[in-house]
Order: sequence, then C-alpha cells, then structure tokens
Amino acid sequence: MKMWSGRFRQPLDAEFEQWQRSFPYDGRLLPFELVASGAHARALERAGVLTPAELTEILTGLDQIGSRAEASPEFLNDPEAEDVHHFVEKQLATLIGSVGYKLHTGRSRNEQIATDLRLFVRASIDTLQEMLASWIDAFLTRAEKAGNAAMPAYTHLQPAEPVLVAHWLLAYVEMFLRDAERLTDCRKRANLCPLGSGAVAGATLTLNRQAMAAELGFDAPTANSIDATSDRDFAIEFVNALSQLALHLSRWAEEMILFSTPAYGFVELPEPYSTGSSAMPQKKNPDLLELARGKAARVMGCATTLQTLVKGLPLAYNKDLQETQEPLFDAADTVISMLPLVTGWMQTVDFNDAKMNQAAQSGFMNAWAAAAYLVDRGVPSRLAHEAVGKAVQLCIERGCELKDLTLGDLHSIHEAFKSDFPSCLGLPEVLALHDVPGGTAPRHVKRALQNARERAAALRTQEPLAAR
Ligand code: ARG
Repeated sequence: MKMWSGRFRQPLDAEFEQWQRSFPYDGRLLPFELVASGAHARALERAGVLTPAELTEILTGLDQIGSRAEASPEFLNDPEAEDVHHFVEKQLATLIGSVGYKLHTGRSRNEQIATDLRLFVRASIDTLQEMLASWIDAFLTRAEKAGNAAMPAYTHLQPAEPVLVAHWLLAYVEMFLRDAERLTDCRKRANLCPLGSGAVAGATLTLNRQAMAAELGFDAPTANSIDATSDRDFAIEFVNALSQLALHLSRWAEEMILFSTPAYGFVELPEPYSTGSSAMPQKKNPDLLELARGKAARVMGCATTLQTLVKGLPLAYNKDLQETQEPLFDAADTVISMLPLVTGWMQTVDFNDAKMNQAAQSGFMNAWAAAAYLVDRGVPSRLAHEAVGKAVQLCIERGCELKDLTLGDLHSIHEAFKSDFPSCLGLPEVLALHDVPGGTAPRHVKRALQNARERAAALRTQEPLAAR
C-alpha cells in the first residue's frame, strides 16, 4: 500500500507517479535505512509503543530484508516502491504482516532521508580517507626513493629554479593532506543524528534521541528539528570538499600530461594505464590522466547543482531536496572510483631521472644563485640582478651557460665577480642555497618528508566507523 493514499480520491497520473520516484537511485541507501530503522524501532520499544516481541519481529524482518538485498540485487526491482523508505515498509509488511506498519509510528521520511544521507556521507568519508592515505603514500614512497634527484621548478610555466624531485612531490602531498583534513572536518558536522526530528516539529513521541544517536555511531542528536529535516549542508560541504580534491587531481593530471610529452620527457606513461590510437600507430595516450582531469568538471558540476538546489529554499523539507541525492552519489562515486586508479598510476609510472636532472642544470636556473653570489660580496640586490641579467644575455648570444663565461667577460659586466664564481653555480650549491624550512635545501626536504609521513600516518589512525 501507498504511504499516504487516505486523503486522495483520484489515482496519481501514471507518468507522474513513476517520474517522482526516487527508489531507482535511493535503493542504494538500503543498508543505512535498515540500521536507522532498527534504532527507531528500539526507541519505540523503550517508549512502550512496541512490545519486546514486536520489536524482535521488526528487527528480524529488517535483517531479512538486508540479507535478501545482499543475496540478490533483483530484490530491489520494485516498480511500486516510491523510495527506499516505502520499499522497507512494504517488504516488512510482506514479511511480518501489519506489525510492520507499526515501525513508522512517530517518525517521518523527512528525518529518515536526512539520517540516511548523513550515514552515506560518513561512510563515504571513511572510504575516501583510506584511499587518500594510499594515494598520499604513493607520493611519499616516491619522494623517499627520489633522494637528491633534481628537476626544474616552473613559474609562468617557464623554467625558474632547480628543486628536489622530492620537494615537488611533497607539494602534492600538502594539497591532498588538506583535502583529507577538509573531509575530517566535514565528518564532524555530518555526524549528528536527525532521528526524532519528525516531519518538521519533532517526534510526536518522547523517543530517546541520545540512545538512537549513540546506536548509530553519531556524536549527538541534531539540535533543531526544522533545521535537521531541511539541512543538506553536510552534503554540500562534502561535495565541495570532493570538488577541491578533484580539482587537485586535475592539476596533478595536467602536469603529468605535460611532463609526459616529448618536449619534457620527464614521465614515461605506464602502459597498463594508457591507450593507443586507432589511427596513429606510434601513439601512447595519457587517457587515465585526461579522464581524471575531465572528471573534476563533473564533480564541480555536482557541487554547483547541490548549492543551486538549496539556494532560496524555504524551511523546512521541500521535495526539491530529493534532487540532492543523485549529485551527491555521483560525486562520491566519481572520486571513489578514481582514487585507486590514480594511485595505481602513480605507483607504476617511471620518472626519467636523467632528463629531469639534466633539465635542472640548463636554462640559467642558477641565475638567482649567481645574483646571490654578488649580494654576498656587497652588491645591492637590484644591481646584482641587473648584472646577472646582462651575463645571461651574453650567454644567450653565445649559446653557452653562465659557468662558461670567462672572468674577463664577467668583469666587463661587474668587478665583484671573482674566480670562485663558478663554484656557486653547481646544482648542489643552488639547491643548498634555499636553506629555509619549506624550501628545497636537501636537509629541509628530508625533515619535511618525515613530517608529512607523520601527518599521513595520522589519517590511518583516525577512528574507523567499525570500531565505534
Ligand atoms: N524520497 C524523499 C527524498 O528523497 C524522502 C522524503 C519524502 N518526504 C516527503 N515529505 N514527501 O527527499
């Protein structure tokens, strides 16, 4: 039977009836709907609405629904179920008769969907944190292996200064650690229990909300029934955090694509994650990276959809909120399916250390170090800059590097250049010059790596849901 047919005299338009259903996509919330219903049933028994025997019947019924859904996905092919809440009610009545209809006493689907979605977001965050830990680990392992290998760093995509490969990899680690932190933070606000909020004004029974919240691993009940039934901030925050993560993945993907082109040649695309061209036999294309870059658009689109849905929505529950489900699921699915693949890519890819190292030593990336040499000898910074600029210009004309200029050449530009000048131009000297915490001097990168390892390990030690 329908959940609301009593006051209606006419049947629903058949097309509308199908069109307004959410069950085709909210069926995936079944596990959450079942545990939340179990918690509500126990609260009903404590409130004296269900006898202990009725409670047992209901809990057994809910269990059976869960097992049947797990055993065969076709069980969920129910063209009549309006949504996951209706599906459970129908199945429960089929299994245990009219006692099943007692489960809905004192509750509303408005609090149920808010609860299920919070449980979905929480479970997704826990999955994502595990995945992010492996993803970050792939960078840290590579950074450890890279030792003192160097590469160019770019500004304006023009060669700027040499850096340690490890320093470059740790830049990505920072981005992804921030993403993990954002998810942890989002989880805190999501982890509150709407059960007991009713349709909008609170349950019509004195249900023990603390007990329901605790049973479901929530930190506390939500504070206001109007907010609890209309709030989707937790979904918006979550998908915004995913957007930011997807955005970082797309920046990473773009840089890998660039570095894999022959012009750079720093990255050898791993065959298990690349494809060929049907036309050009020589091609190996970075499809995984291109799709990762593209998926960011999709996740950001989901975030925009969610925000636009809630914008201007009056309190409290409005059916528009049903439309928040699909973008929420899509964003979570997109990122959850992507992370293990990019991790596999990162674990498999080969970096061309020789090419990176060579690129780090050409193209005047030691020019700032050359200017620092003059500054050390009392030349004002602006004048040192000017002098080295002139030296670079001379090199460009001659097709050589700074170290190839004679002392005579240098003196014609500035008399502070001395015969020891070339000793400041070598790669190790240039790297060591950046001797500040957060800079690329090897001793600081070593410490930064250790520090990042510790912060990444903390991701794994966060209390998992199962341990609650
Ligand atoms: N399927 C609905 C949704 O996802 C459940 C809540 C329905 N509530 C209502 N008052 N019609 O939003």
